[in-house]
Amino acid sequence: MDQHIQTTEALKKQALEDLERVEDEKSLEEFYNRHLAKKGKISALMTLIGMVADKAAFGAAVNSARQAVTAAFEQKKAALAAKALENKLKNDRIDLTLPGEPTPIGHINPYRLIIDEVTDIFLDMGYEVCEGRDVETDRFNFELLNVPKDHPSRDMQDTFYFGDDFLLRTQTSAAQAHRMCEAEEKRPIRMIAPGKAYRRDDDDMTHSHQFAQIEGLVVDKGISIAHLKATLELFAKKMFGQKREIRLRSSYFPFTEPSVEVDVSCFNCGGKGCAMCKGTGWIEILGAGMVNPRVLEACGYDPEVYSGFAFGVGVERVAMLRYGIDDIRRFYQNDFRFLKDFPIK
Ligand code: PHE
Repeated sequence: MDQHIQTTEALKKQALEDLERVEDEKSLEEFYNRHLAKKGKISALMTLIGMVADKAAFGAAVNSARQAVTAAFEQKKAALAAKALENKLKNDRIDLTLPGEPTPIGHINPYRLIIDEVTDIFLDMGYEVCEGRDVETDRFNFELLNVPKDHPSRDMQDTFYFGDDFLLRTQTSAAQAHRMCEAEEKRPIRMIAPGKAYRRDDDDMTHSHQFAQIEGLVVDKGISIAHLKATLELFAKKMFGQKREIRLRSSYFPFTEPSVEVDVSCFNCGGKGCAMCKGTGWIEILGAGMVNPRVLEACGYDPEVYSGFAFGVGVERVAMLRYGIDDIRRFYQNDFRFLKDFPIK
């Protein structure tokens, strides 16, 4: 046999033996460089082509050697990859029975817990829940509620303004005006509107620039202050206990006439007098009154036909009393150490 073809055969045999000893990816790469790469031994054979007598036979021999070695190389490569995968599967086994990482669970802010509780009580009485909006116009926050531009009561409700007309609402009472104005047919209303209100304030333990209120509004034919009293008494008993009583003290709000502050007998001492009620036996929880006829009229309800009552509950105040919270700022600081003390529903 031609000497060059013999050399080719020998190189092929040597390469295949070499490949037998390859056991990992690194030596496989070295093998490739040594034999199959451009500068490898098999490629080097090609340079001999010019010198041999039977070029065709030699060329065919070189090609078949290259093919055989390449095929063996690919096979080895696949085998190594399969082995690597098998090892990985063996070593990286996932134990599905191990307990997982605990996911921290969020908590409901206590002022929300109060809103939910109050909402449930009024839903049971057939009230609808209206959303209201935080950004209001002067018209809905003040004017429709009988607080004209120069009214002195505006001084107590300074807030955050956007331009001349838009502001962060100072009271959820704005939702009353929306509900009445937006009623296409002027039918009876029974609604509550929980949400945030804002006033400019120097924040401290008892003052906050943001707080929550729950507004209530009933409008119908023949509504009197007896309905207001009975409704709020039922609410107080459901919220603070069957033994609770309420008392109405006269007060002033521009949008109600007459207006009252409502106290509930102290749910801590039962009315005897304690630190919570400052020795009085009573705790103030809300403002209320009969809807001022001027408000009904401004919002499209005929005060000759309709009358109504409204109330506004201070949510943080109730939450502070209920849960013994000492600082109103805690409601908006979002400190998890504080929030996690409250029940998850
Ligand atoms: N809007 C009043 C306030 O913020 C509360 C209130 C609501 C009073 C409804 C009467 C009727 O103080």
